[in-house]
Amino acid sequence: MQKLITLQVNGERHELAVEPDESLLQVLRNRLELVGPKKGCDSGGCGCCSVHVDGRVAYSCMMYAVGAEGREITTIEGIGSPATGLHRLQQAFIDAGAVQCGYCTCGIIMAAKQLLDTVKQPSEDQIRLAIAGNLCRCTGYAKIVDAIKLAAAQT
Ligand code: FES
Ligand code: FES
Repeated sequence: MQKLITLQVNGERHELAVEPDESLLQVLRNRLELVGPKKGCDSGGCGCCSVHVDGRVAYSCMMYAVGAEGREITTIEGIGSPATGLHRLQQAFIDAGAVQCGYCTCGIIMAAKQLLDTVKQPSEDQIRLAIAGNLCRCTGYAKIVDAIKLAAAQT
């Protein structure tokens, strides 16, 4: 039986009727058209669905939408866009050439954002640890690390 819930996403309230087993990822992508978070493994193993929940990185495929009620959800769309201005991490990924297919990119930026929100000048080890839960099949990670260093240098 569906349940009526209220979700707070990127600063906006949404009232939705959801199935009890509907994931936060499904609701974000299929109902709210926020397609930055990607469906990869759908089982907590790749990180491409990463969002922030109350300011901390979470795999949205592993959270039921009903469990997200009352929490502050932020997706990549909520940190910056071409219309509102890119976040420095988004711009740094472009400038450093850290994007190939892009499937991992939104999740990695959300993981990196949590790091830069708490550590202004992280070491390379801290950067690699922060994105350890995010798989990238294309880049070999070097340019991703460069991009995060570039963004950190702009604080
Ligand atoms: S799709 Fe969520 S961790 Fe892979
Ligand atoms: S850029 Fe393709 S998976 Fe990371």
